[in-house]
Amino acid sequence: MTMSMMEIETTLKQLRLSGVRATLETRLLESQASNLSFMETFSAILQDELDRRQSRLLERRYQFSGLDERASLAEFDWGYNPKIPKRTCFELHTLKFIAEGDNAILIGPPGTGKSHVAKAIAYAAVRASLRVLYAEADDILGRLAFAAPAEKRKLMKPLIDADLLLFDDLFLARQLPPESADTLQSILHQRYKLRRSSLITSNRIIDDWHKFLGDAALTTAILDRLLHRSVLVEFRGKSYRLKEAANRLAKANQSE
Ligand SMILES: Nc1ncnc2c1ncn2[C@@H]1O[C@H](COP(=O)(O)OP(=O)(O)O)[C@@H](O)[C@H]1O
Ligand SMILES: [Mg+2]
Repeated sequence: MTMSMMEIETTLKQLRLSGVRATLETRLLESQASNLSFMETFSAILQDELDRRQSRLLERRYQFSGLDERASLAEFDWGYNPKIPKRTCFELHTLKFIAEGDNAILIGPPGTGKSHVAKAIAYAAVRASLRVLYAEADDILGRLAFAAPAEKRKLMKPLIDADLLLFDDLFLARQLPPESADTLQSILHQRYKLRRSSLITSNRIIDDWHKFLGDAALTTAILDRLLHRSVLVEFRGKSYRLKEAANRLAKANQSE
């Protein structure tokens, strides 16, 4: 018995074949217009379903990552701060360091693009089907400090489980809660044991970290784990935010 179009729609819904459902009419028309064989049309329809599932999965992984933008290296202006080690950034963007379980630390003054580059690397990892977690470092450390034990375990789990943890803007705040050094050490120690990569950005040079962590021994333990297998990328130059602000001013003046 041949199904009517309505019945096919309902069946596709039941079978959760939304990719087929979205393109079926077009594929039918195409098949008639171009005289395609059954196999040609059938494979195109299967491909539509695969495509739809893949893009949904990517979307879910992106939502789960907590990234707030799909940054890329393509839109980065390498001419603006030529001292930024471009090759190292592209090397990290290949994600080989994640396969090796290495870490990467991007250090340098505000506005030089550390978060941008780190997010581009993280988004590449999302696209490569890795579990990525983005966290504003001070924010999550603050929340962990005030969380009850059960809540703390719940917050910690994804921080340990992620294939790539992006800890953005560590030590942006001058003062972290006293237990943050312990928490950071615990996160990094567990990730180190599991050989999972952490990507950290900070405006603070490593020599100063002990000041923000308030504990010399813990700082040594943290840096020990972090630097053992890691790429240190030094960002140098002027803030791009100043350029953006200058552009906005210039535009505002023009339109006056
Ligand atoms: N060289 C660059 N080319 C293009 N955009 C840049 C560049 N450097 C920084 N930006 C942009 O400037 C803003 C600030 O950069 P950000 O990555 O947040 O700096 P940081 O994390 O080092 O403080 C962002 O919107 C970023 O996309
Ligand atoms: Mg930043």
